[in-house]
Amino acid sequence: MLEVKNLMVFFENALALNDLSIEVNRGEIVSTLGSNSAGKTTLMNTISGLIIDMQVKEDRRGGERITLMGEVWFEGEEILFSKPSTRIRRGIALSRERHPIFPESDIEENLRISTYLRKDSEVKSSFDFVYSIFPPLQMLKKRKAGFCSGGEQQMLSIGMALMTRPKLLLLDEPLLGLSPAMQTSLIQAIKQIRKEGITVLVAEQFARPLLPIVDRGYVIENGMLTLQGTGQELRENPEVRSTFMGV
Ligand SMILES: Nc1ncnc2c1ncn2[C@@H]1O[C@H](COP(=O)(O)OP(=O)(O)OP(=O)(O)O)[C@@H](O)[C@H]1O
Ligand SMILES: [Mg+2]
Repeated sequence: MLEVKNLMVFFENALALNDLSIEVNRGEIVSTLGSNSAGKTTLMNTISGLIIDMQVKEDRRGGERITLMGEVWFEGEEILFSKPSTRIRRGIALSRERHPIFPESDIEENLRISTYLRKDSEVKSSFDFVYSIFPPLQMLKKRKAGFCSGGEQQMLSIGMALMTRPKLLLLDEPLLGLSPAMQTSLIQAIKQIRKEGITVLVAEQFARPLLPIVDRGYVIENGMLTLQGTGQELRENPEVRSTFMGV
């Protein structure tokens, strides 16, 4: 479904991703594990196309030069340089790290913002779908997003991505800053999302709650791939255990 081939991303002369290749098959939950600054967000932004927006913005204000090399294939098409909106239409949606939401708008309004590319007739079924995955969002739909807890905001952020009814959902550190109970319920939600037929690529630096539900994973260090394997292989790998599971 998704194939990233020999991807290189430079911010000016600094190499953020170095010859990175990964693959995600339809129906899988795949994880990219990496410590701070490993390149997880850069990879997510490159797959979702956000980096193209960043590139244009930086160009316009004469800021830093962002250079992309390599290939990103999604369902048989090369998309490395296509716009984020094109990629959303093709079925790729990103829930960004640290859940940027509109704090002054309520939950329902936040969710509705993500449906601007969709037909009116599809919007209701998107709401139904998101509320079925995250029932608390329905109960809180009139609450200002800024008054919601970190966990609720994370659900909202993922909900906003799901409103576009993606084929591939990209999650950038969804567990960051959540209580263990909230992490558990989010892991359950990710399982349910996959059951609904959505393929998931999730970046994390905290692997303990995540690895049990992961089919395959990649470890990224300094922008380079250092290890890959099935979820079980990674769970049993001593290096993964000490770096990403705290054991
Ligand atoms: N806009 C930018 N300009 C310059 N350098 C950047 C930019 N964004 C990321 N980088 C650099 O690229 C490298 C990868 O950063 P990235 O944010 O992708 O890592 P990450 O794995 O998501 O880290 P974290 O766990 O902190 O979110 C880092 O060295 C970072 O400093
Ligand atoms: Mg990041």
